[in-house]
Amino acid sequence: MKVITVSIQKGGTGKTSLAFHLAEHLRSKGKVLAVDLDMQGNFSSMFLGNQEIDESHHIKNIFENKELTPFNAKKNLDIIYSDIELSRFEALGVQDVYALETFLENLDGYDFVVIDTPPSLSIFTANALIPSTHVLVPLDTSRAALKGLNIFLETLPKIEKFRRKKMDVTGIAVMRYKKANFSKAILNNLENAFPDNFLQPVRDSIRISEALALGVPVWELDPRSAVSLDMLKLMNQIEKRINTIGEDDG
Ligand SMILES: Nc1ncnc2c1ncn2[C@@H]1O[C@H](COP(=O)(O)OP(=O)(O)OP(=O)(O)O)[C@@H](O)[C@H]1O
Ligand SMILES: [Mg+2]
Repeated sequence: MKVITVSIQKGGTGKTSLAFHLAEHLRSKGKVLAVDLDMQGNFSSMFLGNQEIDESHHIKNIFENKELTPFNAKKNLDIIYSDIELSRFEALGVQDVYALETFLENLDGYDFVVIDTPPSLSIFTANALIPSTHVLVPLDTSRAALKGLNIFLETLPKIEKFRRKKMDVTGIAVMRYKKANFSKAILNNLENAFPDNFLQPVRDSIRISEALALGVPVWELDPRSAVSLDMLKLMNQIEKRINTIGEDDG
């Protein structure tokens, strides 16, 4: 089972858009579990819309030792959802970094787990990173995102101390680049700094927001648009890396 976390502590860099498209792509290849660890619940809404589902599918159950069951949202895609209820557990100061790992260890039948995280290096992000075999870092080209990337990469070894498995930083992807010279220069710098991890960038396009609002991947909304081609290239790149790295993780 490949466990893929999408994370960076900077807000609004495209974490949820990337996690959503990846889950949609991978469900055409195998059975996917989507896990939302962000109390904003955006990842959940993309699959569920306004549909109210039972609390037995809420991620908070891992912190309460209550039963948690995935909810089947689409063909080959189950979800563990989140919403603002999760904030209670932050307020209570939960410290269990292994809660998600324990849950996943007792789970059967999934090929891929795709986890969306909040824009913070919180207990929820730690819970996501600990069982992960792969980590994807989405960026925008702001100074804050680039600074955030460095801090994030410095933090990973600290998380690794709690881990029993090897983790691979599968890639760094710029999720909404604009064709300005400024953006281009930043892309070049990133590619030079991370030649092995730099992934296909995705251009800024209103089509992404439209697709997300409808709960469909952009390549379904507008298959021939340039942004769909970017996204599909990115998906294929990620899939290839996931399948070739960390084979022995089981
Ligand atoms: N390539 C793109 N072009 C245009 N808009 C985009 C693109 N990618 C993402 N967006 C939009 O940017 C906003 C932020 O994206 P998203 O929610 O994926 O970021 P996030 O990192 O998950 O945010 P948060 O940190 O709040 O969880 C959303 O409104 C989304 O629709
Ligand atoms: Mg998000």
